[in-house]
Amino acid sequence: MKVGVIMGGTSSERDISLLTGQEMITHLDPQKYEVVPVVINNKRELIEKSAGLDIALLALHGKYGEDGTIQGTLDSLGIPYTGCGVLASSVCMDKDISKRIMQQAGVPTVEWLQISDLEELSSTTVMQLSYPVVVKPNSGGSSIGTQIVREPSTLREATEAALAWDDTVMIEQYIEGEEITCAILDGTMLPVISIRSSGAFFDYSSKYDDGGAEERIVQLPADIHKHVEAAALTCYHVLKCSVYARVDMIIRDGMPYVLEVNTLPGLTRNSLLPKSADAAGISFAKLLDSIIELSLQ
Ligand code: DAL
Ligand code: MG
Repeated sequence: MKVGVIMGGTSSERDISLLTGQEMITHLDPQKYEVVPVVINNKRELIEKSAGLDIALLALHGKYGEDGTIQGTLDSLGIPYTGCGVLASSVCMDKDISKRIMQQAGVPTVEWLQISDLEELSSTTVMQLSYPVVVKPNSGGSSIGTQIVREPSTLREATEAALAWDDTVMIEQYIEGEEITCAILDGTMLPVISIRSSGAFFDYSSKYDDGGAEERIVQLPADIHKHVEAAALTCYHVLKCSVYARVDMIIRDGMPYVLEVNTLPGLTRNSLLPKSADAAGISFAKLLDSIIELSLQ
């Protein structure tokens, strides 16, 4: 079977995508697959480079990779690809829209508002925010352009920085608590990982530098585990995910608050989903086999 590992792309997460792709190539079983590395450097290349593939193994992250656009292109070309389809990909890439759907489904998520212009910062709603808040690009990833703002005097600067990455910025209530992540494979939640970052939060360097964060598999108390699993699986289903995804949350006072759902979570050497799979006895190679098999069903 000819498997194209599609990586690179033009989003802010290109470098992470290349790491995810490299890790996939390292672990794909050469007895089973003819592996074709496909590095995308501009939007046109996908069409030329994906000809003849039996499946596109998506190692892309962010805009034009994780947001439904490549998924739609591959659907149109009749090339199977791994992971979520067009709808889940585009909805989950938009943090505002996905949080609205979570809220409607009764999944606890942190309060937020949206800003698309610096002028809106003077509106009453923004003035009424209680600090700290988290300012992030609405459709970003890997915490690029994301900052914790602890006082009103630095809100403008942080919003301007986030607006450099996206047309819309999310200002979200910051909550103190235990940060966890829940990997889901084929509708089943894998062991939960608790994250303790070395920096102020789980930012880019905490995520990808060796030793940037302490990440460990946790056995949560049964009642909390139940809430976490319900929140993770409800998100997966109402947001129409398939094959695999990763749901990030903060637990405060025993209640999980969902931050976001990642439809093409990182599979780098330092990423969380492979660690969670490993704790469930699923090696990286087996994880890739499952992702490919499930995507072809
Ligand atoms: N956006 C990065 C790749 C992640 O969620 O793992
Ligand atoms: Mg993300």
